[in-house]
Amino acid sequence: MKNKILRLDETLLIGKGGVREVYQHPDDPLKCIKITFNQKKQRSVKREINSLRLYHLRKKPFERITRFHGYCLTTKGKGMVFDLIRDFDGKKSVMLSDHVAGKAEPCLQPAEIVYLLSDLFEHLLQHNIIISDPAPHNLLVHYTSENKKKLVLIDGIGNPQFIKLADFSTHYAHKIIKDKWRYYIEENASLKHIFAITGYKR
Ligand SMILES: Nc1ncnc2c1ncn2[C@@H]1O[C@H](COP(=O)(O)OP(=O)(O)OP(=O)(O)O)[C@@H](O)[C@H]1O
Ligand SMILES: [Mg+2]
Repeated sequence: MKNKILRLDETLLIGKGGVREVYQHPDDPLKCIKITFNQKKQRSVKREINSLRLYHLRKKPFERITRFHGYCLTTKGKGMVFDLIRDFDGKKSVMLSDHVAGKAEPCLQPAEIVYLLSDLFEHLLQHNIIISDPAPHNLLVHYTSENKKKLVLIDGIGNPQFIKLADFSTHYAHKIIKDKWRYYIEENASLKHIFAITGYKR
């Protein structure tokens, strides 16, 4: 942890979930700082960091997840530094949930959403990237060029097992990935109409 105390204020706030506030890093446009305000959820935060460290050591691809760059000191308390996802034009990538709710400009078409979701699902299975909460508000639509895009999971990585068999077994890893995918994506109420229109099948 570096000793310099980074000054964070509301002008740098990017987003807020149920557990963390997320700020733009004051010295680096491609990094964000997450501050945990819900101490009861410390366990899942720790789990995410342990998994990202393990994936780094195992040289897994970080195209669809964000790298953890360590801890830092801030005026809001201890922070965790992650990649900040920005589109090719420098704008912050928009959450999939905003595309689904008609709040993005422009919004993705239902068929595009299904394509991106299927592509992410295949990637997670191929590389045994274990997810605990792949909900649409934890997925960003990352435009890498004007007509190339992919989903990036910015939260909800990690193995929820007490005895972590899934970190060593493809069979158990796939079981968790499929179970979480069913619960957070296929049974997600906001995505139901998109799956109905497109005839989505896994
Ligand atoms: N790496 C990132 N790049 C860009 N924006 C991000 C990033 N991480 C988080 N955000 C924004 O900040 C919001 C909250 O972040 P995050 O999901 O990490 O918080 P959380 O409290 O852990 O969420 P949850 O309520 O799902 O547990 C996100 O929904 C997103 O809008
Ligand atoms: Mg979140």
